[in-house]
Amino acid sequence: MTPNVIFVLGGPGAGKGTQCTKIVENFGYVHLSAGDLLREERAKPGSKFGELIESYIKEGKIVPVEITCSLLEQAMKQSGKENFLIDGFPRNQDNLEGWNRVMAEKVNLKFVLVFECPLEVCTDRCLKRGATSGRVDDNLESLRKRINTYLTETKPIIDYYGNLNLVRQIDATRSVDEVFSDVEKLFRSGSGDK
Ligand code: ADP
Ligand code: C5P
Ligand code: MG
Repeated sequence: MTPNVIFVLGGPGAGKGTQCTKIVENFGYVHLSAGDLLREERAKPGSKFGELIESYIKEGKIVPVEITCSLLEQAMKQSGKENFLIDGFPRNQDNLEGWNRVMAEKVNLKFVLVFECPLEVCTDRCLKRGATSGRVDDNLESLRKRINTYLTETKPIIDYYGNLNLVRQIDATRSVDEVFSDVEKLFRSGSGDK
């Protein structure tokens, strides 16, 4: 049984997690957020990567792929399921190469779902989220760095998948339900499939 994978990308605060939750409810995928897995790993007492992850997250930098990819692989195996949304990955060339080395041949990559949202809107959403999220990176200083990382490191990865005709773009500026209605159309049409 070859697992199906959909990568989910978009700027910080574009609504990846929010939309993934709705996809899980409606289409029965397993949602794996690379950022959530890293935050969980950071919080584990005695984790040898805790401090590294903390500093990378604060600085908006991308954690070395060996750590992230093994967390993803472990979570996929533990779930025992076969349809995965992998949210916030691959975020840079190192992520992409690490995935291609270890995982690409073991899965069927269906497409890359990209939530398009102006970075000012992303910033506002993250700052609002910061009021309750407790995240160390939902502040203006970290956000500037995260946005820079998105533009210089993640965009080229989206372009790479775009050239392979694997990108499915969704306008994420509207309300959660309006955005999800486009997501639904994509998932129901099957046109997202390779
Ligand atoms: P990401 O996972 O891409 O960083 P989230 O799904 O966590 O983004 O959303 C970031 C913040 O914006 C959250 O507080 C969320 O409730 C809010 N949000 C998500 N989608 C929308 C939307 N379409 N319109 C307004 N706010 C949104
Ligand atoms: O996707 P999310 O906003 O939760 O990611 C938060 C942070 O986690 C990123 O800014 C980055 O520091 C780290 N991360 C990473 N590698 C990924 C995904 C997230 O280093 N593939
Ligand atoms: Mg998220």
